[in-house]
Amino acid sequence: MNKNKSTEALLVASDEKRDKKIYQAGFIPGWIGEGGLKPEPIHEFNACSWSWHKGKKLLHSAAKSIDSRVAERRNIRMANTANQKRTTLNTIHTSYQMVAPGEFARAHRHTVNAGRLILESSGAFTTLNGEKVYMEPNDIILTPNWVWHGLGNDNEELGAFWVDFLDDPLVSSLKTIFFEVRDEDYEAMEENHDSPYHIKWRDLDKELENLDSGVDESHGHRIKLDTTSIPSMDLFMERFDDKMKTRAIKSTANHIFVCVEGSGSTQVEDTSFPWERGDVVAVPSWKSFSHHSSVKSTLLEITDQPLMELLGWYRSSV
Ligand SMILES: [Fe+2]
Repeated sequence: MNKNKSTEALLVASDEKRDKKIYQAGFIPGWIGEGGLKPEPIHEFNACSWSWHKGKKLLHSAAKSIDSRVAERRNIRMANTANQKRTTLNTIHTSYQMVAPGEFARAHRHTVNAGRLILESSGAFTTLNGEKVYMEPNDIILTPNWVWHGLGNDNEELGAFWVDFLDDPLVSSLKTIFFEVRDEDYEAMEENHDSPYHIKWRDLDKELENLDSGVDESHGHRIKLDTTSIPSMDLFMERFDDKMKTRAIKSTANHIFVCVEGSGSTQVEDTSFPWERGDVVAVPSWKSFSHHSSVKSTLLEITDQPLMELLGWYRSSV
């Protein structure tokens, strides 16, 4: 007999009577089944991707049958392909959302921190604590913990679309979700051109073009966005030159990438996920990934790295 097996048998002698008594008293024997500690993290979520081309078509058809009063719920969830998951990853979730032409949804607030990357908008707005903020393509709007936000679209012909990103899987697992709804008078509302929660694409694009620092081989040309109001997530814009291949990274942080412009692919271990504008790629923690641009491209990076750092669990292979 194998020496290890005989040692194990000696250490955990089989005794059904003993185990039955333990179960009957409301306990579980710690020596039965798998232990909780592993040498390295094993992620139950898969790396996966979603197509904006498909998402937009599906939202268009949903616009006809979902009442405008609940337009804030007209979203299609990017559920992970791992068995029975309803969220994208275990701490961050993403959805595609639409507001139909001429539509105004009620406002709400929640303890979940969230943000939206605008894919299409020509006259659509988010209300933030009672002020209107108009959104342009590639802008980012943050809707932090307990900030009132509503949405509407002055454009009578064109819908508006965006990618929502939220920390709701995390807040849900911590049992700290609160949610409220209210009606707002959007017509009487003041416009805010300089909201601290509005990150404008024209500023980001200019900053990326004028970066003094050279190319970071893991991230391309990269800037960190001001997201102090949503402490569970960091956001970055990464710009890659034509046909750039980044150095692979592996870390204990979750990552979600949204293609803002260009095209290319993200290699996650053995699988390549192609992307073009609006597509989303989810990379669970402790899986090695790298990006490969076909043309000059920009990705929005969303990560829970600040949480891992705060709690002392951030580890990285680079
Ligand atoms: Fe919300």
